[in-house]
Amino acid sequence: MTEPTPFWKGKKVCVTGGRGFLGSRVMDRLDRLGAEAVSCSRRSGCDLKDLQQGLKFFRQHRPEIVVNCAAHQGGIAYQSRYPADTYYDNLLMGANTMEAARLAGVAKYVNIVAGCAYPGEPEGGRLREDQFEAGPMHPSVENYGMTKRAAVMQARCYARQHGFKGISVVLINLYGPGEHFHPDRSHALAALLKKFYDAKRSGAEKVVLWGSGRPVREWLFVEDAAEGILRAAERYEKPEPINVATGQGHTIAELAEMIREIIGYGGRIEYDASRPDGALRKTGEITRMQAELDWRPRTPIREGIRKTLAWLEAHYDQAVAAEG
Ligand SMILES: NC(=O)c1ccc[n+]([C@@H]2O[C@H](COP(=O)([O-])OP(=O)(O)OC[C@H]3O[C@@H](n4cnc5c(N)ncnc54)[C@H](OP(=O)(O)O)[C@@H]3O)[C@@H](O)[C@H]2O)c1
Repeated sequence: MTEPTPFWKGKKVCVTGGRGFLGSRVMDRLDRLGAEAVSCSRRSGCDLKDLQQGLKFFRQHRPEIVVNCAAHQGGIAYQSRYPADTYYDNLLMGANTMEAARLAGVAKYVNIVAGCAYPGEPEGGRLREDQFEAGPMHPSVENYGMTKRAAVMQARCYARQHGFKGISVVLINLYGPGEHFHPDRSHALAALLKKFYDAKRSGAEKVVLWGSGRPVREWLFVEDAAEGILRAAERYEKPEPINVATGQGHTIAELAEMIREIIGYGGRIEYDASRPDGALRKTGEITRMQAELDWRPRTPIREGIRKTLAWLEAHYDQAVAAEG
């Protein structure tokens, strides 16, 4: 069901943000599939906030497909400290990267959309593509989510007016090797993993977690995300969003127990119920993904956590640095 096809062999692909957490996994997979992949970001001399820089890069490299993994983002604390910067940068980057791709004659464009663009209180706890814009986003992430909704709208408008092929792949929560573990930049699973890892190293008696531990969330291993994105790039043609997700939820308490067991931490877990929980459940609907991509993520969560932990152990200083 998930065997690679010759589709990618020799294909010229540009991954914007191709050295970031997600982008580097997409680059690795393209490499294994025999594509000619190039990364585009400030490190390669291209600031995608600027239309002309993006256009110059695409005209020079002439990719057939662009996978847009470039973003200016961090965890919730980072978003709330820099709401204007993250809004402005991502809005410009999203709009100009797609426009540059269109002007450069790119045949297919893949928007990467974060799950925070979904309504903050989704009906039945399911993030369903047909309800993508059906309600307000959670206030803590609406600045970022709004730029992703704008990119989805841009793909629709470009399809209508220009016949441009832009698809939007929605990823909920990612984790995996190469994740950022600095408190400013880490997302929920990475933050939990670091908490337990540090507690074990320091011999702390307990780990205190925010909230009740009851909310249910889903977690997608980053290598599965890369596989799903390329599967969508190959097979999906419509401008309406498509989830690449596991569809399987775990409570924060279950996740914490799994991490504790894998790390071998013997202390207590305490929940600070005075901290907000957020929505009780948020998991991705995967009906569209299964029908359109004939694909499912393959990595069991325990295996993914073990691989992420092994990476954290081997790269601790790099992983917790603010940049990188
Ligand atoms: N991480 C998650 O848990 C998660 C979950 C769901 C969705 N996503 C989505 O996945 C995408 C990638 O996220 P990520 O976690 O991989 O982020 P990341 O590790 O921060 O990588 C983003 C990359 O974007 C590049 N970039 C930033 N500003 C740029 C600019 N002005 N011009 C050109 N390139 C720029 C950066 O490279 P340079 O510094 O070299 O410019 C960086 O490597 C985002 O759209 C995000 O919303 C992520």
